[in-house]
Amino acid sequence: MAALAVLGLLLLSLSSAVGYKTYNVLDFNAVGDGQTDDTNALVQAWAAACADDRSPVLLVPPGKTLLIRETQLSGPCKSSMDLRLQGDIVAPNWQWTNDKAVLLTFTNVNRLILHGYGQIDGRGQLWWNLFNIETLVFEQCNDLFVKGITIKNSPEKHMAFFKCVGVNINWVKITAPGDSPNTDGMYFSGCQNVAVSGSIIGTGDDCIAIGPGCSNIDISRVHCGPGHGFSIGSLGRDGAEQSVENVRVYDSSVTDALTGARIKTWQGGSGYVKGIVFENMRMYSVRTPIMIDQFYCNRGYCQNQTSAVAISDVRFANFYGTTTDESPIKILCSQSVPCKDIDLENVNLYTVGGTAPVKSVCINANPGQVNRVDPFVQCVAG
Ligand SMILES: *[C@@H]1O[C@H](CO)[C@@H](O)[C@H](O)[C@H]1NC(C)=O
Repeated sequence: MAALAVLGLLLLSLSSAVGYKTYNVLDFNAVGDGQTDDTNALVQAWAAACADDRSPVLLVPPGKTLLIRETQLSGPCKSSMDLRLQGDIVAPNWQWTNDKAVLLTFTNVNRLILHGYGQIDGRGQLWWNLFNIETLVFEQCNDLFVKGITIKNSPEKHMAFFKCVGVNINWVKITAPGDSPNTDGMYFSGCQNVAVSGSIIGTGDDCIAIGPGCSNIDISRVHCGPGHGFSIGSLGRDGAEQSVENVRVYDSSVTDALTGARIKTWQGGSGYVKGIVFENMRMYSVRTPIMIDQFYCNRGYCQNQTSAVAISDVRFANFYGTTTDESPIKILCSQSVPCKDIDLENVNLYTVGGTAPVKSVCINANPGQVNRVDPFVQCVAG
């Protein structure tokens, strides 16, 4: 009898050790028809899961579509959080009244895994050019995994990450039309130790943008286009001191885009960009595949100033493909803070069709190594 009780206890503790509870949004009265407002169901399911200290699963089941309003899911939670997006999420299609809003924000959640084959539809078509509404934002989420999901047609940025340490993203798909304004795929600011791999991103703006305060960013096997390719910056706007360090983008491609691999900084800023590698990059019909622009200005006229974000130790290697402009390599650095140690190696860029001559433009840069680069780069003092 005692032995049986011990066995029973053992089984009980075993099952609770391997068992975890699943919080299905349908059990919190979600309707999931894509029409009914299911915000409260999602928020309540989150609250319940977040209070569970045994690695809960929060489930949006397959075949269901949750329509949600602007929603914040906050931590810290008692445990890790496994959010399975098997169904879909859609933004409302009624009037947003807020110029700055986010459809779904995760704040202060550590060890969040967001994965599944579901999609988040930002329904941005109505709001392009009107409102800055981002679709999916992570703030101060450490040890974050995002895998498999699709995000489409965000009114503004699709995914944005602020002050997150330890981010791993793979097999994510992001799509919006090439002419949709400011619809960055992923934007990072103040993040460290980030890996993005195996993803497909086509939007109307930057594919992946690395903003101020980021370091140790590793991007591989990401296929971009249409849009504005991989960007570091912009940095140093309105005199800001901003820096980015240790970024590696490799084994990736950019198709039908304005730029391929770009660093953009404003005149008058300070700080630095250093330790940047773009390597093994395929370019297909990209206007400017390689660009450093220390004169970035997207608001009409910007005066040249004596201070600038310093750019050094940048490498572009193994770039192959086609360009739609006569100057596929543009390295534009300021006279007062010239770029240092810009390496270019194994670069072969041809105009689409392969006949028109192409040339490089390079001012105020002190090139490091320049080997086997076509079009040949010659840097002149500006
Ligand atoms: C700033 O300086 C660059 C390079 O020296 C030059 O090409 C550009 O025309 C200048 N821009 C303005 C607005 O003076």
